[in-house]
Amino acid sequence: MYTTQSQRPVTVPDLQRMKKAGTPIVVLTAYDASCGALLDAAGIDVALVGDSLGMVIQGARSTLSVTVDDIAYHTRAVRAGIKHALLMADLPFLSYATRNQALRSAETLIGAAGADMLKLEGGDPPVLDIIEFLTQRDVPVCAHLGLTPQSVLRLGGYKVQGREDAAHAAIVAQAHAVAAAGAAALVLECVPSELAREITAAIDIPTIGIGAGVHCDGQVLVMHDMLGMASGRRPRFVKDFLAGAGSVQAAFEAYARAVRERSFPGEEHSYAG
Ligand code: KIV
Repeated sequence: MYTTQSQRPVTVPDLQRMKKAGTPIVVLTAYDASCGALLDAAGIDVALVGDSLGMVIQGARSTLSVTVDDIAYHTRAVRAGIKHALLMADLPFLSYATRNQALRSAETLIGAAGADMLKLEGGDPPVLDIIEFLTQRDVPVCAHLGLTPQSVLRLGGYKVQGREDAAHAAIVAQAHAVAAAGAAALVLECVPSELAREITAAIDIPTIGIGAGVHCDGQVLVMHDMLGMASGRRPRFVKDFLAGAGSVQAAFEAYARAVRERSFPGEEHSYAG
């Protein structure tokens, strides 16, 4: 079976190969070199410098205040800690509203800070244009659909998406569209597991779920959530892997094992339609 458990760094084409081989892709957020090194040692495939850092590092109420410079600072730090994992960085709110902004942001995050791939949210025509524009310039892009936290003001809160027939059909159409525009991977956040299963079977690029059930090609969690550090109500899709693990390193290893065995997420971490 194809595996990335070698010394060689994980590449963007590896994600595609893992989908084809049925090898689950393990993704975890990271914001500093120390946690990056632990994540790497645990054999996690992708480190994501998410704009969730606005909430878990900076204490903001949403991700909307995060800047490209914030993401660049943390991307440089994680880059210094990892040798094996692929390094994905978020394009923050309004940093890809125009082609020019997207290009400047990509220069900063890939050219200066060392990211291997950028993630952006949405699947409607203005974002599709940006995905196409960036991928045609050799910037690997991961799309993000379902609950897109940068749309929190329009959505009115952090809610499961795609439950009604029209919303379900819209997310399926967006998934096809981001793949056609050139995205190399797709994060699906807080959608019913049957919707994620349908999309995962229908498109050629790997799907990475968070609150999207077990049928995705990979899983991602926010590090602070899976270490039981986040304040407030714990979302249904979160499991505390530190409880009983004994160390942060062991928690990361337990998470990677559970994703690879497909024992996480379970039904209790998933949403029904
Ligand atoms: O910002 C982030 O950490 C993310 C993950 C929740 C997928 O986008």
